[in-house]
Amino acid sequence: MKLSGRIQRMAPSATRAMAEKTQEKKQQGLHVISFTTGEPDYNSPPAAEDKAFEAIKDGRTHYPPTAGIPELRRAVVDYYKDRFGLGYDPKEVVVGTGAKQLIYEALACLIDPGSEVLVLSPAWVSYVEQIGLFDGKAVQIDTSDTAFIPDPARIEKACTPRTVALIINTPHNPTGVVYPAETLRAIGRLALEKNFVVINDEVYERLLYDGIKMPHILQEIPEARGHVLNINGVSKAFAMTGWRIGYALGSLELIKAISDMQGHLTSGTSSISQWASVGALTGAQDDCERMRAGFEVRRDLIVGLLEKIPGIKFQRPQGAFYVFIDVRAYLNPAIPELKDDIAFCLEFLEKKNVGMVPGTAFLSPGHVRISYSCSEAEIKEGVARFAEFLSEIGAR
Ligand SMILES: Cc1ncc(COP(=O)(O)O)c(C=O)c1O
Repeated sequence: MKLSGRIQRMAPSATRAMAEKTQEKKQQGLHVISFTTGEPDYNSPPAAEDKAFEAIKDGRTHYPPTAGIPELRRAVVDYYKDRFGLGYDPKEVVVGTGAKQLIYEALACLIDPGSEVLVLSPAWVSYVEQIGLFDGKAVQIDTSDTAFIPDPARIEKACTPRTVALIINTPHNPTGVVYPAETLRAIGRLALEKNFVVINDEVYERLLYDGIKMPHILQEIPEARGHVLNINGVSKAFAMTGWRIGYALGSLELIKAISDMQGHLTSGTSSISQWASVGALTGAQDDCERMRAGFEVRRDLIVGLLEKIPGIKFQRPQGAFYVFIDVRAYLNPAIPELKDDIAFCLEFLEKKNVGMVPGTAFLSPGHVRISYSCSEAEIKEGVARFAEFLSEIGAR
């Protein structure tokens, strides 16, 4: 057998790889702390569970409509109206197996071989690999020297006649930054001018801190509506990663194309999970806020602890549940165990039994990502071990 070139070129998910290595250590009976996880550590809301049980008992267990059950598409429309004041028709909504699948399908619908998709680095691991699966070209635009806020002038410069899409993600994984309104306005203007689609990945939009309100690109520039595909889901907001429900809102043309593709892929996602998501969107807003507040306490804790460590740099995260740390002062090309961020993370796991994800996995070498979706005790212990490790290796 010969695997396709496309698959051979694809790099497996580095976040998953690091999480698995950390898990292996745990299985050896060691006191391991994992800062690798990309999911809330809460249980799903009771309103979601109740709706799922009801659906099972009621026999709502047959193939659902490909684009999603009408009740969920309606709940999504109502949610976007309440949360952002944006008006959509249920036909402009498609439900899929997680936000991840919807991004993949959107790329499938937009990319021809050689098409270019703009990606703002650091970026979530899967964007670039998904673009490659359709023989598209990911054009990276660095944001690490602009406080992780994209510079519209750089985006404009990167556009070519082959540019079909730009992927944005706010609040941002891995940095936790929230894009300002003026940046979103400039991006919307460019999308109109250059005729590309903004894939607006907002899966962390409920996890915001310091009382900030997230600006939405379509509140800032409503005329770009036909050029924006909003990607969201219940994974992060409602701690429902295992139910695998994401949804997208956009132009009829693109939503129909995604749904048609889905007709050949999944025939629509799990009916039980869709009912659970109706429960979450319509009956779990208080749970959502409780979890958000819990993450804010942990954000404050970890930032306070990290600020005491000399030689590292990071932006104070305003959303999501990650801190992205510049550890370049501690890397040393002359020492194999510290030659880059990947070696650094492996060495830290080996020596101190703490797992974190190297920045290379996010196209940003020299950094590490900490997920603080773990207990306060684990945060304290994990950061103490990090400080100890750094003081043992010493800054250059
Ligand atoms: C930025 C970003 N987008 C999308 C996803 C995928 O979410 P889902 O569980 O809905 O597939 C993740 C999950 O880690 C993420 O971090």
